[in-house]
Amino acid sequence: MIYYGGDYNPEQWDQQTVAEDIALMQEAGVNLVSVAIFGWSRLEPKDGVYEFGFYRDLLDRLHAAGVDVDLATGTASPPPWLGEMYPETLPVRADGTALTWGSRQQYNPASTKFREKAAELVEELAREFGSHPAVVMWHVSNEYGCHVSESFDPESRERFRLWLQARYGTLEQLNEAWGTQFWSQRYTSWSQVEPPANLPTFHNPIHLARWREFWSDQLLECYLAEKRVLQRVCPDLPVTTNYMGFFPTVDYWKWSPHLDLISNDFYPEPGDPRAGAQFAASSDLMRSLGGGRPFWQMEQTPSTVQWRDRNSPKRPGQFRLWSLGLVARGADAVLQFQWRQSRSGAETYHSGMVPHAGKLSPVWEEMVQTGADLKKLAPVAGHRLRASVAILWDWPSLWAAESAIGPIGWDPLTRVAQWHQSLYDLGFLVDFASPDSDLSGYEVVVVPSLFQVLPGLAEKLAGKTVIVTAGTGYQNGEAQVHLGGYLGPLRDLLGVRVVDLLPVAPTGSATGRITGAVRTRTRVQVSLDGQSYDGDGWAERIQVDQAEVVATFEGLDVDGLPAITRRGSAWYVGSFLDEAGRAALLERVLGSAPGGPQLAELPAGLEVVSRGPFQFLLNHGEDPVQFPVSAGTDLLTGRVARGQVTVGPRDAVVLDLR
Ligand code: GAL
Repeated sequence: MIYYGGDYNPEQWDQQTVAEDIALMQEAGVNLVSVAIFGWSRLEPKDGVYEFGFYRDLLDRLHAAGVDVDLATGTASPPPWLGEMYPETLPVRADGTALTWGSRQQYNPASTKFREKAAELVEELAREFGSHPAVVMWHVSNEYGCHVSESFDPESRERFRLWLQARYGTLEQLNEAWGTQFWSQRYTSWSQVEPPANLPTFHNPIHLARWREFWSDQLLECYLAEKRVLQRVCPDLPVTTNYMGFFPTVDYWKWSPHLDLISNDFYPEPGDPRAGAQFAASSDLMRSLGGGRPFWQMEQTPSTVQWRDRNSPKRPGQFRLWSLGLVARGADAVLQFQWRQSRSGAETYHSGMVPHAGKLSPVWEEMVQTGADLKKLAPVAGHRLRASVAILWDWPSLWAAESAIGPIGWDPLTRVAQWHQSLYDLGFLVDFASPDSDLSGYEVVVVPSLFQVLPGLAEKLAGKTVIVTAGTGYQNGEAQVHLGGYLGPLRDLLGVRVVDLLPVAPTGSATGRITGAVRTRTRVQVSLDGQSYDGDGWAERIQVDQAEVVATFEGLDVDGLPAITRRGSAWYVGSFLDEAGRAALLERVLGSAPGGPQLAELPAGLEVVSRGPFQFLLNHGEDPVQFPVSAGTDLLTGRVARGQVTVGPRDAVVLDLR
């Protein structure tokens, strides 16, 4: 079956409301809720005093109503007493101020005391509820790193040094790798190694990149400390923690082997036409992190959030459409934040499945409709998807790019999202892969702005259709550039190297006698097959060693220089192509990929995804669309489709093709 439900926070409500909740859950087809995510102060009202009665009663009642429970360990938000009694558990800012209680997540992930207290709670909880028949999953903490992902207290600083010692062995090796001869930064004792904060000017890029990696590891240790307890006390229950899409702080590739099931929270802006594509990208990443296994959507919003400047609602049908889209891309659970909209607190104006106005709001109707529809998708659960196209995406490379001082204000994530969107618009299913992943199953690999490239990648890409884009391969894993031309280890594969960066800087124009005569380049354009495309101000001087020039730059000083090259099936794009340019290039490259996916003729607005023998037709547009089908039954309506099927605006058809 497909799970449907969401975060349930009955701590905020009286018993009568809880009784009503359970009845409403049944009406909406809710079959799973996440409980106790913010339960610590209720579970352990005083240090070492545990009270489980409230949750035992709740779990019993949910179980009797046929609602399963994803039980949280409650450690995401410590109660005030923890910080008051153990100030060392509080995170400290670079300026020395401690963050305090009264909001949430006020813990220092590197604090030994915090980890101990969390593990004690988890042990009690696991003993109490590990064999409760309602509990089907452990939900460790919540969104690791979301608000607090670093601390500058003495314990954290000491742990950072130990972590670096374990990584580099000797201080000599650290000095060498970090290039500390620059600006006289050479360390002569480990005690001199501090966090990269409170500095007069620019940090050493590798210092910051390692600091970020260190915190990703600290957060992972917090998760593992809880997971070990859960595994020991109740080895049969699976364990997850909820990810946040491409959240930049935590290396989910490194974490994922430690999760029994990948789960995700994602909140695209409903008013953005790209939101559906972003949702698809986030789902594709989750499926990929799990090695193709189904994942859970742990949180999405029923309608509005409350944390943007303007919080637009989902359009009628959008929640349902996106929920079906999640299942199309591999989700076996569609869960929301949150079940019942809060009456007070910071999230009062964040929507819930049960809105403030209750059944009077059309949001409720859509919740019920979606629950009924997801029930019909039970046969889809468990099926895997196979993509033949992969995009490389890597957290250490992101950290390297974001830690670098120049060459531009980096945003590799945008580049990755753009290429994903272009492939999505063309109808391709995409997996994400890390440079360390096994790439052998992919025919096509896109490498957008992978700043850090290590030896070995070229061998994995050889023989495939490969599109590498600007901003790739400037550095190795220690933030040292690849000398002799960027692209470094990919130079042979691509037959080119990047010998200069030729971006434009935004300037005004002048009209004076001398100043008005000065010429500067204000745009970068790429000419491909007689068409000009915008390059977002980025041009690279490409030296062609052994490749064919497919497109050239247009503009002052760059006119005619190679912009896109190909060596066999390996393409290089030395610019940041606009939407139309990406589409044109993809059509050209993938249209000709030997044995590669064929570009389907798809109507505007229609997303088509196959999961096992089921074909999802998801219409994101405003007009009904028609799609040819040989024969199949729509799981949602039970209608048999033959020859042609019509999909209404913001509606879907799920064909059983067996
Ligand atoms: C998530 C979080 C939830 C809730 C939600 C609101 O980041 O896990 O607890 O705060 O955002 O959008």
